Amino acid sequence: MKGVILAGGTGTRLRPLTKLVNKHLLPVGKHPMIHYSIRKMKDAGIHDILLVIGKQSAGMYMDFLGSGQDWGVNLTYKIQEKAGGIAEALSLADGFIQPKDKFVVILGDNLFEDPLTDYVHAYEAQDQGAMVLLKEVEEPTRYGVPHIEGNRIVSIEEKPEQPQSNFCVTGIYMYDYGVFHIIQTIEPSGRGELEITDVNNCYAEEGTLTYNILEGWWADAGTIQSLYDAGSKLLEGE
Ligand code: G1P
Repeated sequence: MKGVILAGGTGTRLRPLTKLVNKHLLPVGKHPMIHYSIRKMKDAGIHDILLVIGKQSAGMYMDFLGSGQDWGVNLTYKIQEKAGGIAEALSLADGFIQPKDKFVVILGDNLFEDPLTDYVHAYEAQDQGAMVLLKEVEEPTRYGVPHIEGNRIVSIEEKPEQPQSNFCVTGIYMYDYGVFHIIQTIEPSGRGELEITDVNNCYAEEGTLTYNILEGWWADAGTIQSLYDAGSKLLEGE
């Protein structure tokens, strides 16, 4: 399988840190944030990785990661010109991903403990559709919240005021090439972005959105507090 890491975005909730450098290059634990998603993919046997980055700090990604040789991976870069949402960033992977490929997507600010290997194998064995990874959280209102029936997700509500459960859809997704056709059919949301939740809901409606639940800790390091907490956990694990 191939991998796509989405590492654009403006990081408004981390200002003023992100005035200087893109969020995914901020130090967390012993490394710049981007190190961890590359490591997770490498450890799961994924070596061909596309990084979607913004224009901010683009040269610093090259300085730090280069070809990916030091990580034992082969990196390709694409630039997202302006922040148009996660699904818009993902659409840039069309071409890098070929019609018969299956692939893993990680939002670069998602930091977590579980190895991806077993989930990747489970998705490889799945004959159609997509898979998302879930985690039980204290504040589901901050995330996409799944409505689960058996081993399928039937719908996802983005940042609901009254969540149906304490689970959130993390920023770890597995797709087939069909995702690019779906992205072409969705419309921008109220915040003017192409939402990944709308994409996942298309698979949910088809009845082909499966899930697994992360066992270890997980953080969306998009705020100062979560960045700090994730850094402490990563240091403990070193
Ligand atoms: C995005 C997704 C949301 C998901 C979260 C995980 O939210 O839209 O469904 O739960 O990532 O990190 P955002 O960080 O764009 O608010």
